[in-house]
Amino acid sequence: MRKRVLSIALLLLMAVVFQAQEKVNTADEELAITIRNVTNEVVQYVIEVESSKRGPMRKSIKVGKIDRYPGVSPMDCTFSRGDEEITYLLDPGQPYSFRYDEDGALELYEGSHGRLDAVDLAPFVGTPPIVVEKMLKMAQIDKEDILYDLGCGDGRIVIMAARVYGIRGVGIDLEPKRIEESRINAKGAKVESLVEFRQADVTKADFSEATVVTLYLLTESNELMRPFLEKQLKPGTTVVSHNYEIPGWEVKLIDDVTMQGDDGGTHNIYVYRR
Ligand SMILES: C[S@@+](CC[C@H](N)C(=O)[O-])C[C@H]1O[C@@H](n2cnc3c(N)ncnc32)[C@H](O)[C@@H]1O
Repeated sequence: MRKRVLSIALLLLMAVVFQAQEKVNTADEELAITIRNVTNEVVQYVIEVESSKRGPMRKSIKVGKIDRYPGVSPMDCTFSRGDEEITYLLDPGQPYSFRYDEDGALELYEGSHGRLDAVDLAPFVGTPPIVVEKMLKMAQIDKEDILYDLGCGDGRIVIMAARVYGIRGVGIDLEPKRIEESRINAKGAKVESLVEFRQADVTKADFSEATVVTLYLLTESNELMRPFLEKQLKPGTTVVSHNYEIPGWEVKLIDDVTMQGDDGGTHNIYVYRR
């Protein structure tokens, strides 16, 4: 009898240890830093986990691949850009991607996601408010319009459209963190009744009810989105793209401007009619 009680106790102990281990693994996995290579070259970089005694580790990532670093500690990531050595501190749980910046130089961006089952269309960079204002003006919005922002980030375009023009809007983003921010921002702007934020991959989402679509992706992402836009959007729908053109839609371009943003940078806006 004593033997039986002991083995049951041992089994229970093992179950508790196993469950605790599972929890640690899940937490580590959830807090993984991911680095995706969205360039067209193999990228060499060095990582150093702040709390680890292992020292710097040399890494090499192939085109299109994702490196995953589970754990709860921040990590230094160093890479070369020409003669320059650049080091960023990466946060646990955040996705990062090597891409080219607007001058074609290698850069490590935050986001957009570290998932293998979804297309990485662009990292999160918000459109400056003054540019959002201009995009909405150029869209010639009327009261009946429904605006969809594909890759909505923190929801700023949908929220401004609801606040200024009183129209309904839907923001779609793959990143749960962005959707959470968007909902908080909508509440702050008191437009929750007009807006909705959905967590989804826009290449798999339904946005066919839109009469105005806004995009701030990259040229290659706009090209990838073009067949989806052509399939889903009704003729007459206005598509406004920040900074990047939609390749193959040259004949649909009805307006474009170049302006200064409140960030001091130059911004292009392209307006298309489907
Ligand atoms: C450059 S930001 C634009 C944010 C916002 N539209 C703006 O202009 O301020 C691009 C956004 O697209 C999102 N994104 C990237 N790939 C995506 C995908 N496959 N489906 C949905 N959203 C995606 C990113 O998470 C990011 O928030």
